Amino acid sequence: MQYAKILGTGSYLPANRVSNDDLAKKIDTSDEWITSRTGIKFRHIADENEQTSDLAVIAARNALENAGMAADEIDLIIVATSTPDMIFPSTATIVQQKLGIGATGCPAFDVQAVCAGFMYAITTANAYIKSGMAKNVLVIGAETFSRILNWEDRTTCVLFGDGAGAVVLGASDEPGIIHSKLQADGDYIDLLKTPGQVVNGQVCGTPFLTMDGPGVFKFAVKMLAKVAEDVLKESGYTSAQIDWIVPHQANKRIIESTAKHLHLSMDKVILTVENHGNTSAASIPLALDSGIRNGQIQRGQHLLLEGIGGGFAWGAVLLKY
Ligand code: ACO
Repeated sequence: MQYAKILGTGSYLPANRVSNDDLAKKIDTSDEWITSRTGIKFRHIADENEQTSDLAVIAARNALENAGMAADEIDLIIVATSTPDMIFPSTATIVQQKLGIGATGCPAFDVQAVCAGFMYAITTANAYIKSGMAKNVLVIGAETFSRILNWEDRTTCVLFGDGAGAVVLGASDEPGIIHSKLQADGDYIDLLKTPGQVVNGQVCGTPFLTMDGPGVFKFAVKMLAKVAEDVLKESGYTSAQIDWIVPHQANKRIIESTAKHLHLSMDKVILTVENHGNTSAASIPLALDSGIRNGQIQRGQHLLLEGIGGGFAWGAVLLKY
């Protein structure tokens, strides 16, 4: 039996770090409001010359180095993003070109599941590896959400940031990904969306993110708890066997609620939302890389990854690191 095992991780945050106090100088908000509602203290904003693929490539190189692998050993690239460099081609093919491995001909494509993007991408990579269609997969979550925010809308702009995280998954005889579950319910499209589109050269609708904050909160808490529980039950595990939850980093209160539901204390949760805000598809691999590099997560431990976002789409992955 072939498993998909994490061989290396990497991440990248743009240099420009913006604090809550910095935002309070420009809009009617405060460090106290943002921190108490979300746990966020800082977000990083990409330079105007930095594209999503640039962030992705730095995270990918870090992950390859961590895995001790050359870029040309990768035989599939999946990028989870809702803020691609362009309408097409995919950000994954741009990453392939920037890594200098276009000539390998390895397949490369994007998945778009907003904040659940990394759950969808890693689950797809797992299916490729288990079926023998790929051996070494580069799975990246990368976003420049700062470009789709209305910086005058205090109800949304304080929540998000830019960044990238990457994982090298390799085929292994030893357990890696044990079980995963993806779900979506398109009846909830209106809770969170960026409804603009380009038609005949004109931007139609709004190019900015819109959100029903309290509606998202309620739905996220309910569905994350349920999918985490389902993944444990379906794989014959209990929450007591989980060493770390690595959740989507949107909001500390959502994360606390999921941990409570699983009867796990917050010291079993990798929490990085304070440092980078909600980086959508990048947030789970950013948290994962942080937990691994600072020594919290050790080889052989069991991790539960979980994320939810626009669509609505959500999922959870149980793995042995
Ligand atoms: N600074 C100061 N005041 C603000 C701000 C701000 N940045 N934003 C809103 N307010 C005000 C509102 O205008 C409102 O004022 P009013 O009562 O005078 O009208 C007041 O604060 C309370 O607003 P609520 O929306 O009721 O605040 P709530 O406690 O629900 O918190 C929040 C809002 C933080 C958005 C919360 O609903 C939330 O966390 N929702 C989840 C959103 C999320 O995580 N989205 C990420 C994308 S989806 C995902 O990743 C899971």
